[in-house]
Amino acid sequence: MNIMVKLTYNLEQIDTAATFLLHHTKSKIILFDAAMGSGKTTLIKAMAKHLGAFDEANSPTFSIVNEYETPDAKIYHFDLYRLKNFYEALDFGIEEYFDDPQAYIFIEWPKVIEAILPLNSQKIRIIVNENDSRELQIL
Ligand SMILES: Nc1ncnc2c1ncn2[C@@H]1O[C@H](COP(=O)(O)OP(=O)(O)O)[C@@H](O)[C@H]1O
Ligand SMILES: [Mg+2]
Repeated sequence: MNIMVKLTYNLEQIDTAATFLLHHTKSKIILFDAAMGSGKTTLIKAMAKHLGAFDEANSPTFSIVNEYETPDAKIYHFDLYRLKNFYEALDFGIEEYFDDPQAYIFIEWPKVIEAILPLNSQKIRIIVNENDSRELQIL
């Protein structure tokens, strides 16, 4: 898949990376296809902050979905690492989240639900560079 745009950023530039991604995405459903420890959660939290999310209601050790309220819309942050198959996602009602056009939906480990993802979802990748900075690729 072609890279549309990319940005290299370190931890001090996380807010820049968050706004960059929010401005370049074609969809409010964003799929974070990246390795363990690459910075998915860190980037999603910075995006939530930029969107005006109030303090996190849920515990930082949420299991599958973490919900953030903003003045304009809800943000649903999914971590599907522990999901075995997409039937488990259907069981907890993931399609109802997709049906909310206002909602932002940020998904870590999206591969397991590939078969049921909306076609307009935005794929992104994060690559860890040798100097520990990250390359954000919007596909
Ligand atoms: N741009 C960055 N530059 C350097 N370190 C980063 C960057 N983004 C995230 N990290 C660090 O990488 C580690 C893993 O981040 P995390 O968001 O938990 O990854 P993931 O959710 O992909 O497993 C954290 O220690 C975080 O501070
Ligand atoms: Mg994570």
